[in-house]
Amino acid sequence: MTEGKWFIRTALAAAGAVVTMAAAVGTAAAAPPSSDPGDVGVQVVGGTRAAQGEFPWMVRLSMGCGGAMYTESLVLTAAHCVNSTGPNTSITATYGVVDLQSSSAVRRTSNYVYRNPGYSTSAGGDWALIRLSQPITGAALLPIATTSEYNSGTFTIAGWGAATEGGAQQRYLLKAEVPFVSDAECRQSYPSMKTAVEICAGYDQGGVDTCQGDSGGPMFRRDSAGRWIQVGIVSYGRGCARPGYPGVYAEVSALATAIRAAAADLGGNPDPDPDPDPPGDTFENTNNVTIPDAGSAITSDIAVSGLSGNAPSDLQVSVDIRHTYRGDLVVDLIAPDGTAYRLKNSSGSDSADNVIATYTVNASSEAANGTWKLQVRDVYRADTGYIDAWKLVF
Ligand code: ARG
Repeated sequence: MTEGKWFIRTALAAAGAVVTMAAAVGTAAAAPPSSDPGDVGVQVVGGTRAAQGEFPWMVRLSMGCGGAMYTESLVLTAAHCVNSTGPNTSITATYGVVDLQSSSAVRRTSNYVYRNPGYSTSAGGDWALIRLSQPITGAALLPIATTSEYNSGTFTIAGWGAATEGGAQQRYLLKAEVPFVSDAECRQSYPSMKTAVEICAGYDQGGVDTCQGDSGGPMFRRDSAGRWIQVGIVSYGRGCARPGYPGVYAEVSALATAIRAAAADLGGNPDPDPDPDPPGDTFENTNNVTIPDAGSAITSDIAVSGLSGNAPSDLQVSVDIRHTYRGDLVVDLIAPDGTAYRLKNSSGSDSADNVIATYTVNASSEAANGTWKLQVRDVYRADTGYIDAWKLVF
């Protein structure tokens, strides 16, 4: 179809600068009523209210756009939300609240805007960075996708934009989920969409979408480690939530290199992977267990819960066994399924006291949750001791 007509969608400034980008404004047919009769209201278009803290890196910009905290000083938004690159003290960013009128809102003024110099409606690349005059120390950050691996599945969208096509801006942050739409399918709606730098999402039947005022905000999903990752930036659509017209988003992974380069010039990028393997969850048992002399094996239990998946390949097993002749002792770690991992063999010639050591066990084939046991057996006569304490660090 005559796609040329449909671009625009600019934020309608809730306060201030309306950035207009191109052409004709489609006439507002009413958005398909989306089906949420509920009390909370139907929002983003077809969404619901986000909980305070649910998407902590969401930012509302005073020109009537959304954004996401990229670093403590940089907000990632859409190019079409800003006018040009250069010093700019006219934008206020509101952070930390779902309710824009909350007294606990954190506000910052911009001091610089970087607008993707390659951006145009015909080329795509709808991103910009806004630098705050003061960082928001400790702000939650939304990492950006740097590969295409997350350009699929179901995405979350959120913003304070209109909840119906042509509707008012919202006081409370709204959220919704929308499925990925392939480039091929999206091109049927928008023949000139830039498949290399744009990604589409929405239902064939419409009903759920971002809308005016959501621009610049993130479209995101969970990564393979379960963390939120930004895959899109709200850019445009024909109307909002219309059947056959998904939302079009700047494709973050395709733009990530340029975003990183710009951020480096503006003061820096986020830590690459702040905490890939978060500080180990530790489980400990400090109850003493007597080790019978030349007797049968005894065990001490640790019940592990609250973890997901398997134990790591570098499970740390720290043991503190008090004994007057450690060569007497055979020590095993018993996984919840009964598999034994030998930590230490006996040795008639090792006459030293105590076993105070940390062993690394490849336990990656074991479920993390369950009861783990430290099993100790004294295989020679004469000396005695006890398990003083032991712990597992996942
Ligand atoms: N450009 C719009 C804005 O400024 C967002 C449009 C998104 N439209 C859509 N149908 N997904 O807020």
